[in-house]
Amino acid sequence: MKLYNIKENDQQVSFAQAVRQGLGRNQGLFFPSELPSFEDVDALLAEDFVTRSTKILSALIGDELSEETVNAIVDAAFQFPAPIKPVTGNIYALELFHGPTLAFKDFGGRFMAQSLAVVSDGGKITILTATSGDTGAAVAHAFYGMEDINVVILYPKGKISPLQEKLFCTLGNNIHTVAIDGDFDACQALVKQAFDDPKLRGDIGLNSANSINISRLMAQVCYYFEAAAQMSKEQRNNLVISVPSGNFGNLTAGLLAKALGLPIKRFIAATNVNDTVPRYLDSGNWEPKPTIATTSNAMDVSQPNNWPRIEELCRIKEWGLETLGKGAVTDEQSAQSVQVLFDMGYLCEPHGAIAYRVLDEQLKEGETGLFLCTAHPAKFKEVVDDILDSNIDLPGPLAKHAAMDLLSEDLANDFELLKEVLYRVQG
Ligand SMILES: Cc1ncc(COP(=O)(O)O)c(C=O)c1O
Repeated sequence: MKLYNIKENDQQVSFAQAVRQGLGRNQGLFFPSELPSFEDVDALLAEDFVTRSTKILSALIGDELSEETVNAIVDAAFQFPAPIKPVTGNIYALELFHGPTLAFKDFGGRFMAQSLAVVSDGGKITILTATSGDTGAAVAHAFYGMEDINVVILYPKGKISPLQEKLFCTLGNNIHTVAIDGDFDACQALVKQAFDDPKLRGDIGLNSANSINISRLMAQVCYYFEAAAQMSKEQRNNLVISVPSGNFGNLTAGLLAKALGLPIKRFIAATNVNDTVPRYLDSGNWEPKPTIATTSNAMDVSQPNNWPRIEELCRIKEWGLETLGKGAVTDEQSAQSVQVLFDMGYLCEPHGAIAYRVLDEQLKEGETGLFLCTAHPAKFKEVVDDILDSNIDLPGPLAKHAAMDLLSEDLANDFELLKEVLYRVQG
């Protein structure tokens, strides 16, 4: 598989290099040079999840890894289902929270960890990742205990849910967690700064498990196919998918699935009030504003990292950006939607509810709607209980971590201080 750097096109890398490096020169994202296309999508959809995902990822990776190797990676990574649930009329929820850390990030995090183990050249690796909540847990659990890999996770202090924090800041061992005095965009900027420091990069074998790492998005492509596989042909041929979006990795993966041949009629980019993309799609002007804290905190992103990949894909496929649906939802509206869904018998947290709301507003007669439920409702227990006046149960993994002590260190939003941490964890 060949990939190029979107910013500096002359930089070409293999899948192994893209997985190991994460980000290209000048902070450029890697993008596949060629995208395969499946002729017989119906036959592909008839396969089981692991077999189908192996075929999709093998086609993307090409002959760099044997199909057997890809199958072993997929088999180890995707050990949990992605079911669709009927919610109302022709609207379905795609539940992506049945993995070990109860969020959709388990697909990408685990696939990346397994891939890195296969393509590693034996040197030391430091995974530096910024999280707005769920990536941290997925990455920490996927890499926990792996030899020669240190993981450093930055998160905005006080701006993620207490349960999200407990899930990844209590592990220890090769997992180091740092609470930054700033917002998620500040954490993301620190990660990018680290990548721009060639000496640091070389000294510690810097890599990232954020959705800037293309392997994460490749894994996510597979659950769009899995959702369609659970529908009748008639339903999936009129499929509109609403994606709760922050950094826009999930939507990138969906658009890649469409590029590979999955017949998706339309995508909707649903955000909270951090609405840089919906405003951009309206006006053509890219005008990020300061990030606002919301109850859908994992989407509190005003400078979404993956947007250049979406523009690149739309340019290549000649899909006008105006074909993307969009909508921005306030906290009050998302709380209303959590309640509406609950009254219809579906328990949902605010991120999924935002996607539902925009879908419900924009779905047309004859279309099938699917909204992505990106996290288990209990991961946002405080918010959900507050809206519903409930006391929802904590599933096993959350209950276990909720009782453990936090091991994070606090750090000012200062790159020099972060560098000290990165050298220190090398031991
Ligand atoms: C629960 C949840 N929903 C939605 C998102 C947004 O996904 P993306 O950043 O890929 O747009 C995130 C990302 O952290 C998340 O954790």
